[in-house]
Amino acid sequence: MLERDPWGLNERAFAWYYPRLMGISERAGGAALRRRVIEQATGRTLEIGAGNGYNLPHYTPAVTSLVVTEPSPHMVQLLRERLTAGAPPVGSWELVQTGAESLPFPDASFDTVTSGYVHCTIPHPDLAIAEIARVLKPGGQYLFLEHVRAPTGSLLGRAQDVLEAVHVYVAAGCHPNRRTEETLRRSELSVEWLEHTNLPRSSPTVRPVLLGAAAKPA
Ligand SMILES: C[S@@+](CC[C@H](N)C(=O)[O-])C[C@H]1O[C@@H](n2cnc3c(N)ncnc32)[C@H](O)[C@@H]1O
Repeated sequence: MLERDPWGLNERAFAWYYPRLMGISERAGGAALRRRVIEQATGRTLEIGAGNGYNLPHYTPAVTSLVVTEPSPHMVQLLRERLTAGAPPVGSWELVQTGAESLPFPDASFDTVTSGYVHCTIPHPDLAIAEIARVLKPGGQYLFLEHVRAPTGSLLGRAQDVLEAVHVYVAAGCHPNRRTEETLRRSELSVEWLEHTNLPRSSPTVRPVLLGAAAKPA
């Protein structure tokens, strides 16, 4: 499956159209979904795959320091502009260009890790969850909001499978049919809160959404 074209054109195009397209869902209730997840972040917090920064306005002063990470140089540029134009009300922040499968941070160095619609795009989601577990302190929380495959046996799930290859190319590596709940349950994290809902005013391929929290055993 062609995930990245040799010229990076799909990543460049995605960084242009994603904020505009996602903005429609954000205004229709997507932002409220993010708030429910992200406002729970506390202490030293790491965000993976932050994109253009739609999670950023939802952090609160309970976050003492925020490390925002993202691998795509095009998205990093958007993030930098957003952070310098109006930083979230956290103690301090820094921006680090990195993917989630190999995080350049010590073991047990974060109280919270967050993500928004990232597991769809990470090439190796099991590795990323293992890294999240590694950098979390015992008792720390992983807060997530992810679009996922529709339930087994559903017509939408089958359509997501059929459209996967096209979706991966057009949306810069985004698999519409990731079974993220299963990935989480295979990990050392313990799922403590899980809700299924729909992303409003979105393409049906990314409509089924999972939000919740998983803890690293103390
Ligand atoms: C659908 S966008 C979501 C952006 C943002 N988190 C949001 O909530 O709107 C997926 C993001 O995952 C990033 N990404 C791609 N590969 C990744 C990896 N290996 N590790 C972490 N993030 C990755 C992409 O660059 C992109 O910014």
